[in-house]
Amino acid sequence: MEREHYDFFGSLMPYLDTRRYIQFLPVSGNLLPPPVPAITPVVELEVETVRALFKLEYLQPSGSFKDRGTFVTVAKLMEEGINEVVLDSSGNAALSMALYSLPAGIRVHIFVPSRAMPGKLSLIQRLGAVVHFTEGDRMEAHRRAVEFAEREGLTYVSHWLNPYFLEGTKLVAFEVYEQVEVPDYVLTPTGSGTLLLGLWKGFKELVKMGEIERLPVLVAVQASGYESLCERSSSKNRLADGIAIPEPPRLEEMKTALKETNGLCVSVTESETMEAWEWLKDIGFLVEPTSAVVLSALWKLVETGEIPDGSKVLLPLTGSGLKLTEGI
Ligand SMILES: Cc1ncc(COP(=O)(O)O)c(C=O)c1O
Repeated sequence: MEREHYDFFGSLMPYLDTRRYIQFLPVSGNLLPPPVPAITPVVELEVETVRALFKLEYLQPSGSFKDRGTFVTVAKLMEEGINEVVLDSSGNAALSMALYSLPAGIRVHIFVPSRAMPGKLSLIQRLGAVVHFTEGDRMEAHRRAVEFAEREGLTYVSHWLNPYFLEGTKLVAFEVYEQVEVPDYVLTPTGSGTLLLGLWKGFKELVKMGEIERLPVLVAVQASGYESLCERSSSKNRLADGIAIPEPPRLEEMKTALKETNGLCVSVTESETMEAWEWLKDIGFLVEPTSAVVLSALWKLVETGEIPDGSKVLLPLTGSGLKLTEGI
């Protein structure tokens, strides 16, 4: 780390975890859940002709980057004294919320599509969350969760809309800046856009603080058949279940993020996802298929020349493969 970066965050922040950035978050910091997201390592490898920077987000306490948004959300709920909430999720956000809420004494209702991964679901139930199975897809789980929250007078905290979630995911940008400065490109799996938008927010805040001068090009990587930013394909990528979100509520913001950063969208098929997953596994990155899509996208963009030789490319590896108890 270069000295000048250390000075930016300075001696005010002694923590070597997410609490390091507490002064940049909309919470007091007096009430925080015991699990705290990690500052995740960045591993640099030469992939094809570029400098690939893999950020190991799957090392978070619940095994995904979702912990960042959950941490800020639960801290806010604790400050507000809210002890019962509703959300919808395909798995990781629910698991994260269940884990952070348990020690905070917050009761969690989770609406999941009945096809959600059984391994994740049994763990979520073991963590004491109330699981509501919904027939239909991920969008239907969202509609049912909103209805339930309204009917029962409970707080709806889904990461799809909750602003505190993006405050947490923006910290990926802060960390990356301290670790490797500004990348040229950032490739992120994109369903509802919480990581894409968090990164955009984080890098923009760094510009505003005068720390950096330019934003990286943001690349939204989506699953074929479920695209919202790229053109919708007919064949469905069912392996990348975390990004099977065809109608994300923040679509307009996601489009603006791409436009403002000269970004683009890349769609990845099921077989491409599998190939990338194998490659990552073979070099020791045990992630879930949803996370592997960024590598497929990198291969494509290097091949077409859209990412030039020598570029510095950030690839957050968002979710752990240790949850793949059903096999893939
Ligand atoms: C492992 C993993 N990566 C990426 C994403 C995409 O996040 P978002 O839907 O916020 O774009 C998800 C969403 O659940 C996920 O589980």
